[in-house]
Amino acid sequence: MPAFWHWFVAAGTIIFVVWCVWLIQWASKQGPQNVADDEVVGHVWDGDLEEWNKPAPRWWLYLYFITIAWAVGYMIAYPGLGSWDGLLGWSQQGQYEEEMQAASDRYEPIYERFAAMSFDALAEEPDALNLGKSLYASYCTTCHGSDARGATGYPNLTDGDWLWGGTEAAITTSIRQGRMGVMPVLAPALGGDAGIDNMVRYVKSLSGLGEADAAAMSSQPMFMALCSACHNADGSGNPLFGAPNLTDETWLHGSADDVIRTTITKGRNSVMPAHGELLGENRSKILAAYIASLSKQ
Ligand code: HEC
Ligand code: HEC
Repeated sequence: MPAFWHWFVAAGTIIFVVWCVWLIQWASKQGPQNVADDEVVGHVWDGDLEEWNKPAPRWWLYLYFITIAWAVGYMIAYPGLGSWDGLLGWSQQGQYEEEMQAASDRYEPIYERFAAMSFDALAEEPDALNLGKSLYASYCTTCHGSDARGATGYPNLTDGDWLWGGTEAAITTSIRQGRMGVMPVLAPALGGDAGIDNMVRYVKSLSGLGEADAAAMSSQPMFMALCSACHNADGSGNPLFGAPNLTDETWLHGSADDVIRTTITKGRNSVMPAHGELLGENRSKILAAYIASLSKQ
């Protein structure tokens, strides 16, 4: 804080406190003069409505002085008067750091024990799974749901069906580095509405949702040319690109005709944010083991 503002704020605060003291003194001397407490002042309205001299009790007045004394003590002990640090040396930053240190002193030994364990052992260790569960609840539920079953556009993490792979390395990479699933815009290459309709039919036929009739099969060469590089020639997907398996019953975006049509014509772009920096190595590992355990139950 620049010196000017320090003095401006400090002087303003001190003047205000002094003014409060003066105001209380002044106000306590107001009221009817020459009339004892609990006596009638002598003003009468409506024949029988009389004014009494009943000052507020003394303790009430003392409360004001106590709060003022408290405020003065507080401002000497704690930061609050301009840029004055306070005699106790307390600061928000200091308190935060102390709490973080206490938490890491408490949890670091636990994390270290888990860090030394193998991934498979972790996925069966109840304490690690409990920790993973609470990490999941803090960082992942917004997108993958509280039961980790996902939602449209957000993959289910419990079904054993992986876009990017379900090995230790794949899950850990998904969490630490994030993922970006890019399904390109392919409308221009598909030969107009009829071509797009046939491609939707072909995609549905891959998982048995529709007939592999002549209209559908007419798109097979196009699928080989445009789609197989990512989704594989048989449509079974490729975890290198996060390209979903189109032959199973699991759909990331949906299997209705118009949804598949939108996917193909407008493309899709789904982002799993990187969490490595936020979580650190040990917590990422525990979380990955927890995620792996979900589809093994
Ligand atoms: C902002 C939303 C969001 C958050 C938060 C988020 N995810 Fe994801 N996650 C996604 C999306 C979207 C995908 C799918 C990416 C794609 O389509 O390729 C995904 C994919 C994944 C995958 C890969 C799934 C597969 O089938 O291969 C894993 C594992 C995963 N997330 C775990 C987590 C964990 C653990 C957390 C908490 C630390 C988390 N995610 C937080 C949106 C999110
Ligand atoms: C560059 C690689 C790539 C190409 C080429 C590609 N896709 Fe995809 N496709 C993806 C990825 C990656 C996703 C997942 C998008 C996401 O994560 O949201 C996807 C998603 C889809 C989906 C949604 C699946 C679901 O579960 O909801 C369909 C349907 C699909 N692609 C069909 C096609 C068809 C048909 C073609 C060819 C015309 C094609 N794709 C070409 C990479 C590709």
